[in-house]
Parts: sequence; C-alpha cells; structure tokens
Amino acid sequence: MNNHLLALKDFSKQQLQSLIVRAMRLKNESREGRQHRQLAGQTLCLLFDKPSTRTRVSFEAAMYGLGGQVIFMSSRESQLGRGEPLSDTARVLARYVNGIVVRTYGQDVVEELARYSDVPVINALTDLYHPCQILSDIMTVIEQKGAPENLKIVWLGDGNNMANSWIEAASILGFPLTLACPEGYGPDERVLTESLARASQPITLLHDPVAAVKDADVINVDVWASMGQEDEQEKRVRIFQPFQLNSELLAHAAPDAVVLHCLPAHRGEEITGEVLEGNQCVAFDQAENKMHIHKAILDTLLGGSCDPA
Ligand code: CP
Ligand code: NVA
Repeated sequence: MNNHLLALKDFSKQQLQSLIVRAMRLKNESREGRQHRQLAGQTLCLLFDKPSTRTRVSFEAAMYGLGGQVIFMSSRESQLGRGEPLSDTARVLARYVNGIVVRTYGQDVVEELARYSDVPVINALTDLYHPCQILSDIMTVIEQKGAPENLKIVWLGDGNNMANSWIEAASILGFPLTLACPEGYGPDERVLTESLARASQPITLLHDPVAAVKDADVINVDVWASMGQEDEQEKRVRIFQPFQLNSELLAHAAPDAVVLHCLPAHRGEEITGEVLEGNQCVAFDQAENKMHIHKAILDTLLGGSCDPA
C-alpha cells in the first residue's frame, strides 16, 4: 500500500476495494457498539487552507474513534501563510505527528508535502481531486445499489475535482461512467486521457443533461462554482442552468435512481430543495460514510494494516 493518499490513480483496484470493505466493517462494528483503539497514542495533523465542515469533523471524529488524537491548523495561521517552505513544514510536522491531512488549492502542494514528509500525507481536497470523498460516495453507491459495474452512474455539472476523482475511480475499479458538463467546463484533460487509457469500461463525456440522465441508476451533483471560483459564480449560474437536477430532469432516470451530493448544496442552483430533500437523495448517508472511509484510510495508512497490492 502507498504511504500517501494523494490521488486515486496511485492505488490498485484491490487496494481501493479493500479500503471500502474495511470502512463497511468499521461502520458495522461501530453500530454494534464496538470500541476501536488501534491508533491509540498516534496524532494526526489537519492542515487546511480552505473551509470545511464534513471533511474536517469526519477526519477528527475518525481519528478519535480509533483512539488517536488530532491537531487542527489553518495554513493562514501557520508560518506557511508567511512563506515558510512546504519542504520545511513537512519535515517539521513529521517529527511531531503520525499523519498529515491536507486541504488546499494546488495538487502540487500535497505532492510537495508528501515528498518531504516521513509520515502519510492524505489529500482532503485540492482543486484537482477529492479522492477520499469519492471513496465514501462509492461506498454509498454499493450500499444503496450494489456493485457499480452493473449501474449507470452519471456525473452532472462541473468537470471539477469531484468529477476528476470519479473518472479515476471508474478507470481503476472498472465501472462505466457518464458525465454531462457544459461545453468548456469538462474535466481535467490529462486526468481524462490517462483514465481512458486505463479504463476497461466506457467513460463518456456528454454535454446534454437529459441524454446523460436517461435511465441512470446514480446521479451525482456538486456545486457549480467550487472553492476558489467564487468570482465566476454569477456567470456559472447562467451557463449551468440546464444542468440543474430538478424533478423534471430526475424523471428521465430509472424510477429507483439515487441522487448523491457531497454537500454543501446550493438549493435552487445545482439541485432543487425538492430533490435534495426527496426520498431518492442519499446525501446524508454519503456524509456519514465519509467518517467510516476516513477511519479505514487512517487505519490502513497509519495503523500499518496493509492489504495486498
Ligand atoms: N463534502 C465535503 O468535502 O464537505 P466539506 O467541504 O464540508 O468538508
Ligand atoms: N467541488 C467542491 C467540493 C466541495 C466539497 C469544491 O471544491 O468546492
């Protein structure tokens, strides 16, 4: 198993599957009241450059839930905000803690920290990827609908960090994926090209939301303007309007389709309040599963419970 979790493409199908299986096991055990202590005596540092509710609290709850402890630091309040190099920061933090969870802008930042860190670095969202989120989303899909290989899974909206990680997941785990993005707002071209070369099932990029959603089993939506794109918000709201997941668009999907949203949601933009609060939406199960997936990731990377490559 890799030391760091920076992108899904660094992992094999078996490794990703075993993280999901481990998360499901930890979830069941927690529900049965079993206490986990495998990370007792270990400390995790969260280094965040962007806001977070779910990822921060679910990583903290996961670490405490495994018997460990957490130090949270916003980069702005650290010496990083005054220009201390990432290479020095990584080498210092690695002397204090057993793992570093990073939420930031550039993927190069997590890569640089990982290059210099002797302890695992985990990507908790960059502009390019949101790998831990996609693992909890796939766990949710499996719980709700079964094996993703047999499903029509659709990404609707911006070709953003979430879309890029979904594409990598599809190419490694071997399930088909349909994306519908406005022209000019598709996923990262390098991620798409590399993933297509790896994929055993089709990864299809469309610009027509109705065609994409037709007979879908799973529909994923996310905000139209991600963190860091706030000044494009108004323009994006106009361009992305046809991609709003409302009850008319959802009616083209399979009658038992489920809707995923990683949250936070902007009701009335990418999703209507009716669909978000409707009985097909599993966004809150998804949010819960972040904690179980984070436990599995920490248990694997910090606890040394290695699974075969
Ligand atoms: N889904 C997600 O990453 O949420 P936060 O931004 O609240 O962490
Ligand atoms: N694409 C969104 C995800 C938020 C969890 C963003 O990067 O802001």
